[in-house]
Amino acid sequence: MAIQWFPGHMHLTQKAIAERVKDIDVVIELLDARLPGSSANPMLADLTGHKPGLKVLNKQDLADPERTALWLAHYNAQPATRAIGLDASQTTPARQLIDACHQLSPLRGGMAKPMRVLICGIPNVGKSTLINTLTGTRKAKTGDEAGITKLEQRITLADDFYLWDTPGMLWPRIIVAKSGYNLAASGAIGRNAFDEEEVALELLNYLKGPYAGLVEARFKLDPIEGFSDEEVLEAVGRKRGALLGKGRVNLQKAAEVVMHEFRNGNMGRITLETPEEYAQWRAAGELIDAERRAKKEARAQKRRPGGGRDPE
Ligand code: G4P
Repeated sequence: MAIQWFPGHMHLTQKAIAERVKDIDVVIELLDARLPGSSANPMLADLTGHKPGLKVLNKQDLADPERTALWLAHYNAQPATRAIGLDASQTTPARQLIDACHQLSPLRGGMAKPMRVLICGIPNVGKSTLINTLTGTRKAKTGDEAGITKLEQRITLADDFYLWDTPGMLWPRIIVAKSGYNLAASGAIGRNAFDEEEVALELLNYLKGPYAGLVEARFKLDPIEGFSDEEVLEAVGRKRGALLGKGRVNLQKAAEVVMHEFRNGNMGRITLETPEEYAQWRAAGELIDAERRAKKEARAQKRRPGGGRDPE
């Protein structure tokens, strides 16, 4: 799927993070608990991978709790990494964040050596909501205004605990195809940047497996086992009155319904990937990308003077 997203402040943010991270003790990455693997920014891993990391699985109220437990265990087994689940219903998340950061960087703390933390995440993951809760204010989104000054926004969570906010950042190219679909389904990518019908079909294709019962219950469908993705989408459209006349289903409307219901958690608590599944998708994506790069390199080689010919 070709996702046309606009990097926006991506390059500025990337530069600012690279600069700021030098004086940072812990990097908090806010992930979407419904798609933890896909919502992790690979560019951020490159920029901050050498620092202790706290993975916050946010919006856990929308995610499948069994799968959230799998993801937390997955991250907590990694070196210099801790993971916690969070959602907007938590009225005092600061304690959890502060404690986890102290576990990751036990030598920091006190006025002489305050804890310095950077918080990052993709757009729509709930960062502004969390920061508003932390500060008890209603601030504009970081990066909503042009310019870099916002990148320097520092929030004091305690006398010896500083948090630097960063604008929501995506990365330039999706290597894991399934991640593109999951990010689009979650609302992380603007709606003009992808084909909603394609994303809804891919979403239903996945839901038909572990969450068929939730789809059937929400849309009052007969058992969908054995249905194609298109048949499920059509069935949803019929149930919701998304019709074009002569009995034809308005698939675009049906797709919007499916996405809306998923995003709002109306079908129930759903997680679109397990650590194991994500690892497989990623390995497959990296293989395809390596092949693509090798072909590109071979083409470039041919175009070079004397390229592609055997030496005489
Ligand atoms: P961002 O800064 O990372 O871009 O995200 P933001 O806080 O703006 O949150 C994006 C959307 O996600 C908002 O909904 C927000 O209410 C919702 N949200 C944030 N945290 C949670 C959570 O823990 N659980 C759930 N269920 N939703 C959460 P919106 O519809 O886009 O905006 P609004 O109608 O709430 O203003």
